[in-house]
Amino acid sequence: MAFQNILLEQPEPGIYLLTISRPKALNALNSATLDEIAVATDVVAEDPGARVLLVTGAGEKAFVAGADITEMQNFTPGQGEAFSAHGSRAFAKLEALPLPVIALVNGYALGGGCELALACDWIIASERAVFGQPEVNLGVCAGFGGTQRLPRRIGPARALELLCTGRQINAEEAAAIGVANRVVPAAGLRQTGLDMARVIAGMGPAAVRYTKEAVRRGAELGLAAALALESQYFGRCCATQDQKEGMKAFVEKRPPRFTGR
Ligand code: CAA
Repeated sequence: MAFQNILLEQPEPGIYLLTISRPKALNALNSATLDEIAVATDVVAEDPGARVLLVTGAGEKAFVAGADITEMQNFTPGQGEAFSAHGSRAFAKLEALPLPVIALVNGYALGGGCELALACDWIIASERAVFGQPEVNLGVCAGFGGTQRLPRRIGPARALELLCTGRQINAEEAAAIGVANRVVPAAGLRQTGLDMARVIAGMGPAAVRYTKEAVRRGAELGLAAALALESQYFGRCCATQDQKEGMKAFVEKRPPRFTGR
């Protein structure tokens, strides 16, 4: 499929790689790019063989340097609200994909770029990654989910410090406070993502899908309701041939051969 601002590739069966690519603007997100992210998400959602989506930025300098400031500078209140809602819708679609979505953060992940990474299920950071929510320095609050997803990931006090000061943090600090899961050398970022994706793609697909749904939906519920939800998903897994195969393989001391049924 031909896109102007992103690339969607399938480097290996079941593994998709979405690259934000607007090098002249350090991959900043304008409206057209948000639309393309939403279309690419639909493409992945409609592929029953899709197992993992990796998200990264083109070039060596930036993951995504934010929402596009040139597009936003003369916004009316109505245009501002609509643009924020536009980004939120695109990121919500990405987050709702029934498979793990992993951000490979290769450089600046600022403002809308940090928010794009936070809409992914987890983040692997290159040692060159820089995270931050500098919106207050532009006279706006975060608009693509930062005020909501950052506190849910690292707690309200740490999130508010970053959101109110605009302070940028390096990959090491991002991992220490739980923004990123791990830090890897820049040259190994893509390979680390592919290796992790391959491991996930080798697991029972329904088990991975229900795991993500249990964690994501359960986070919105009280503990008792969330545990009941987990039991439902556990039961649904037991309806799959892959559950029979996985447990039979353990008993027979051999690797499982999952088929996605
Ligand atoms: N929007 C539009 N263009 C951007 C951009 C952005 N967010 N970030 C960088 N660019 C453009 C620059 O204008 C520049 O273009 P020109 O060459 O035409 O001048 C080009 O990308 C390269 O950028 P710099 O020359 O600034 O590169 P640098 O190495 O000196 O600095 C940087 C890199 C620190 C990331 C700096 O570009 C920067 O601070 N960018 C803005 C970061 C930011 O404030 N992001 C938040 C945006 S607001 C937002 O995201 C709101 C929301 O939540 C919805």
